[in-house]
Amino acid sequence: MPLGREIDKPAPRLAGRVGIRLIRPRDAAPLAQLLTHNRSWLTRWEATHPSGRGPVPGSGSMRPVISIMRKQLRAGTGVPFVITYDGELVGQLSIAELSGGALQSSQIGYWVSQHAAGRGIAPTAVALAIDYIFNELGLHRIEICIRPENYASLRVVEKLGLEYEGRRAAYIHIDGGWRDHDCFVVVRGNLPPQLTEFLRQAIAGEQKI
Ligand SMILES: CC(C)(COP(=O)(O)OP(=O)(O)OC[C@H]1O[C@@H](n2cnc3c(N)ncnc32)[C@H](O)[C@@H]1OP(=O)(O)O)[C@@H](O)C(=O)NCCC(=O)NCCS
Repeated sequence: MPLGREIDKPAPRLAGRVGIRLIRPRDAAPLAQLLTHNRSWLTRWEATHPSGRGPVPGSGSMRPVISIMRKQLRAGTGVPFVITYDGELVGQLSIAELSGGALQSSQIGYWVSQHAAGRGIAPTAVALAIDYIFNELGLHRIEICIRPENYASLRVVEKLGLEYEGRRAAYIHIDGGWRDHDCFVVVRGNLPPQLTEFLRQAIAGEQKI
């Protein structure tokens, strides 16, 4: 069941040097540049359409894409954030698969540019998004699904202490094929202590990456 309500524009959120904020039209040029520079870094983990159709990310103007993303708020279908580091755009974080009714759930997806990798940016951004989803959207459950081969992304959920729920066979079409995914979950009212501690350290600027 869809969420069935409009989502207010989220306020930017910051933890130390890392932030998440709603994507905006003027992100078009820097985002296209990042996507283009990161082709080989991202392709293996990117969602694709089973028909084989679809543009190469960053190859065309990002303005219409960003406009479609922002419309997700009014439709209640998603929240498109960018990730910033010292205010510079370094990646994206999307909240998707929003379900209302008796589920009240969502999924988080993310990427960080290769030049910014290894500084704990993704786990910090995910921790900020989890806080937003529970405390602003008021949802009950968040899933993050990762290809078992994606060691770097598995480390992100491990650092935050998310619970492993199991493997979904051929779950998402990624990089031209149906790929198994390992799913991790966090539910409202049961935040892993690692997540709270990670966020605290990011805010205090004392992160041990
Ligand atoms: C997965 C990803 C988001 C992690 O972001 P991040 O901000 O670098 O996260 P962290 O700094 O916590 O690093 C996580 C792990 O990445 C690996 N890593 C760190 N720097 C790296 C680099 N320069 N190159 C490759 N891997 C690196 C390490 O294994 C690290 O774990 P460690 O801290 O225990 O050593 C990022 O690697 C990425 O965007 N990858 C491509 C897209 C993708 O996989 N998205 C997720 C799909 S589920």
